[in-house]
Amino acid sequence: MDFKLRCIDCNKEYEREDIYTCECGGILEVKIDLNSVNLDFKFDGNNLSVWKYGCLLPVKIKPVSLREGGTPLYNADYLSEKLGVKVYVKHEGLNPSGSFKDRGMTVGVTKAIELGKGAVACASTGNTSASMAMYAAKAKLKAYILLPSGKVALGKVAQALMHGAKVIGIRGNFDKALALVREISEKEGFYLLNSVNPFRLEGQKTIAFEIVDEIGVPDRVILPVGNAGNISAIFKGFKELKELGLIDSIPKMTGVQAEGANPIYKAFVEGKKDIKAMNPETIATAIRIGNPVNAKKALNAVYESKGVVTQVSDEEIINAQKMLAAKEGIGVEPASAASVAGLIKLLKQGEIEKDERVVCITTGHLLKDPETVIKVCGSPIEVDANIEAIKAVL
Ligand code: F0G
Repeated sequence: MDFKLRCIDCNKEYEREDIYTCECGGILEVKIDLNSVNLDFKFDGNNLSVWKYGCLLPVKIKPVSLREGGTPLYNADYLSEKLGVKVYVKHEGLNPSGSFKDRGMTVGVTKAIELGKGAVACASTGNTSASMAMYAAKAKLKAYILLPSGKVALGKVAQALMHGAKVIGIRGNFDKALALVREISEKEGFYLLNSVNPFRLEGQKTIAFEIVDEIGVPDRVILPVGNAGNISAIFKGFKELKELGLIDSIPKMTGVQAEGANPIYKAFVEGKKDIKAMNPETIATAIRIGNPVNAKKALNAVYESKGVVTQVSDEEIINAQKMLAAKEGIGVEPASAASVAGLIKLLKQGEIEKDERVVCITTGHLLKDPETVIKVCGSPIEVDANIEAIKAVL
């Protein structure tokens, strides 16, 4: 399969693969020559995984894989009945490291090996770092991670440490960490695996492929938006399928941001294609991002698919997290619940038609952020070790 890197701003194309931005400063995407693809899979609902769709992924060597993808697409019966629309939940928390990032990392780390890199690096609100550390371990690469100190959920830090990465907390937010890791990677020759890396996003587009494989094209896909890579990647996946003639339509791409970290929402409301950076704050630390690098790609995806961007409060996020856990049996971290909180809000606002089939993406697992759970649910009741004491609290 042939492909080039192409700037989304000036359309300049590059044969070389070891760059992240264009000379003009614009971000790059992988432009696949779809005529050169040897389509060797069928949408038959079987054997779902990232590498089922390997013929649409731009790598040339055997992938570094931990069996990512193939996540369940649940019929959300409770939500469907309560809300009066057909709701599916694709639970990306059931990937190897517990988030959708593994889809991108299997491709990104494979590309690092292909390019002969000895070390990988990222800034992260947590999940990217956990995933990168895991795949770097598998690939025997060194891993360097910059985190916003004190603002990353415990489960994610634990993963990054245990998988053997060098984990550095900076006194600053994610946006600052990303600026720093871009600079240090350039100086030290580390392969950067944030979503400015166009190859990582290629892996994430397989979320679209798996949805189509199981249920065809839904009317709408709703997901949380932080650095805005995932919404861009999923849109690209649908678009490629349409260009290949495998599907006829593209779902309305619908992004949800936290009220305290909402630069893309603000740009959308004003009909703009550029964002104004802000100082972010939200309980959903995974999407605590004020200057998303993929904002332009994401806004293009939303405008082109006739979707929307909405915002939800921390309270709405926690209510949706509790509802998913207690009523659907789906355990997700706060940022992931933003998708369902956004669905509820958009239905109330009359933005979503009652006959739509909607897929909410839940991006990370409940166990990623145990501290927030204890904060919002309280600790277990403690009693003496006898039947009377237990009966008294039943
Ligand atoms: N949900 C979760 C659980 C995430 O970890 C992230 C991003 C997002 C949603 C937003 O995805 O950035 O593609 O718009 N986490 C990154 C990280 C920033 O470092 O783990 P996005």
